[in-house]
Amino acid sequence: MSLLKNKNFVSAEDATDINGLVNIALEYKANPLKDKILGDGKRIGCLFLNPSMRTRLSTQVAARNLGMEPIIFNVGSEGWQLEFEEEAIMSGSKSEHVKDAAPIFGKYFDVLAIRTFPSLANKEDDYSELYINQFIKYAGIPIVSLESATLHPLQSLTDIITIQETFKEKRKPKVVLTWAPHVKALPQCVANSFSQWTSQWGEADFVITHPEDYELDTKFTNSAVIEHDQNKALEGADYVYVKNWSTYTDYGKIYCNDPEWMLTLDKLKQTNNAKVMHCLPVRRNVELSDEILDSSHSLVTQEAGNRVWAAQAVLSEILKP
Ligand code: CP
Repeated sequence: MSLLKNKNFVSAEDATDINGLVNIALEYKANPLKDKILGDGKRIGCLFLNPSMRTRLSTQVAARNLGMEPIIFNVGSEGWQLEFEEEAIMSGSKSEHVKDAAPIFGKYFDVLAIRTFPSLANKEDDYSELYINQFIKYAGIPIVSLESATLHPLQSLTDIITIQETFKEKRKPKVVLTWAPHVKALPQCVANSFSQWTSQWGEADFVITHPEDYELDTKFTNSAVIEHDQNKALEGADYVYVKNWSTYTDYGKIYCNDPEWMLTLDKLKQTNNAKVMHCLPVRRNVELSDEILDSSHSLVTQEAGNRVWAAQAVLSEILKP
């Protein structure tokens, strides 16, 4: 039975069995080339409307491990600027409609993977996921999100893989998602997605801590405990996931840049010798301190390495007949 509801992968809701995907990913980690002909003769187009390092590289490695040919297209810097609105009068700077471009990608590729980003200016537009939904509507081939306006599913699957492979006790881990300061207004994608996946997974005691006014969309955080006192939230934590996000309610703003929210070794003393996670890239000594990133608490390199196995698990499920 497929571990995906359909052949798209844009949200936790597309996964029928998260632990099944984790197990497949860990099998690929142990034996990367075990399905090296599964994607023979198939191509994955990777469209980047925004910058990326880990997602771009790990997806290519995963595709090649399965025998697929990845083709990268930096739409944002190399392609025609795309229009996504239906019935747009295209008299401005946008040269090509997604309605025309997406079916062509569907002719060139067997799977289409896309990275977009939110505007952070218009919540309704961003949260409608117009870009990725237009590709789903018009490409006619499976769509994989490499991060969209509101979610980052391959990152979140990776995060659960990393927790699963490192937690050895016979109880649920306490997992804390903590907001951290940043100099720029960042999307809510990683925090939304981590909340959505952790809730759906259901195998962690999940707490989110953030300053007042940084509430996330409750459709993603519904099973989490929200605790505004970071120190209280950290008590007994086994994993601390650090991430900045801009405000959701009064959309895309920075209300707080209090450096007291940056995680330190001193703060970790109240945890259960917690492991610290971050999706990267990270602003050192703003979002997360050197003393943590350079310590044995940090899982960030292992976590980023696991991006390959998450992508390979998802692609293999799409490729399987
Ligand atoms: N975590 C992550 O998505 O990294 P990149 O933006 O470098 O792909």
